Amino acid sequence: MKTQIEYDMLGQSAEFEGVQRTAKIMAATDVTVLIQGESGTGKELMAKYIHAQSKRNSASLVTINCAALPEALAESELFGHVKGAFTGATCDQHGRIKSAHNGTLFLDEVGELPLSIQAKLLRFLEEGECQTIGQTKAEKINVRIIAATNRDLFKEVEKGNFREDLFYRLNVVPLELPSLRNRQSDITYLINHLSAQLAAKHCLNVPRYNMQTIEQCQRYTWPGNIRELKNFCERMVILLSGKTITIDNLPLEMKTNQKTKVSDPYILPEGGVILEKLEAQLIDQAMNKSHGNQSKAARLLGLTRSALLYRIKKHAL
Ligand SMILES: Nc1ncnc2c1ncn2[C@@H]1O[C@H](COP(=O)(O)OP(=O)(O)OP(=O)(O)O)[C@@H](O)[C@H]1O
Ligand SMILES: [Mg+2]
Repeated sequence: MKTQIEYDMLGQSAEFEGVQRTAKIMAATDVTVLIQGESGTGKELMAKYIHAQSKRNSASLVTINCAALPEALAESELFGHVKGAFTGATCDQHGRIKSAHNGTLFLDEVGELPLSIQAKLLRFLEEGECQTIGQTKAEKINVRIIAATNRDLFKEVEKGNFREDLFYRLNVVPLELPSLRNRQSDITYLINHLSAQLAAKHCLNVPRYNMQTIEQCQRYTWPGNIRELKNFCERMVILLSGKTITIDNLPLEMKTNQKTKVSDPYILPEGGVILEKLEAQLIDQAMNKSHGNQSKAARLLGLTRSALLYRIKKHAL
């Protein structure tokens, strides 16, 4: 029987199914997974999915939002402290890491972790021992690590903002969630399923989308990814329950922000093209336009970052 989280994770495009297949394989192991993807692509949902599918699912999934950890409190929050360890430590406090014992520790927004804490986290990951502040003896803690980020962590390493050793320790299995732009064939499917779910949640009738509106949704670039699509569907369910949605009902940004089409369909010149050369030139231009940012270049070409990297390698660019 499917678990709730499997029903929640929607998608049937080849891009999404590929990622989901890898996630399923990873869930059966204890391997460290680094989930990357733009904001709103479902990184947190994916972490929950991997935990729910794993043999650790009867223990806790403990999420640490690294972006919200103030540097001064981070060590105590992660590792805990004993009474009297420092001024203000009036009682013993368990760290978040310890509460994940036998379960999964999800390091969300890991790219935001202050450098000083990165060193301490690395020590824990290498040794599997949690050093509570003020305690002499470290404790063995058994956790599975999942980390997530919407930053290009490798770039952050190059810029000196993220420790290289920690990057390699976390990046054992990278899982890149495709942006909605790159799983266009999922858009109609997601609109239908999310609208049905949201209509049921609000006890309202599902609205219908006419053909033109669906096509417009497919052309829109969805910078906020599934989060934006879900919010849009919820708005439509509430405002236009049981009605037919037309282009006029779409918010302004959805009428204007679209992928520009290179003459659709692309007209092959009389003398033909050398496809390989054309591909290499387009990649080169996209990389220049995005000042070397691979994620942005991939977006300009409608590719996932890994598909772009494969092509860069292929053309030896
Ligand atoms: N495959 C999916 N099917 C259905 N809903 C999804 C899917 N992926 C994400 N969502 C929904 O989209 C919203 C955003 O997902 P989530 O918080 O996991 O994204 P995120 O990548 O962690 O975003 P951020 O980087 O901003 O933290 C949530 O409401 C989530 O339930
Ligand atoms: Mg998130």
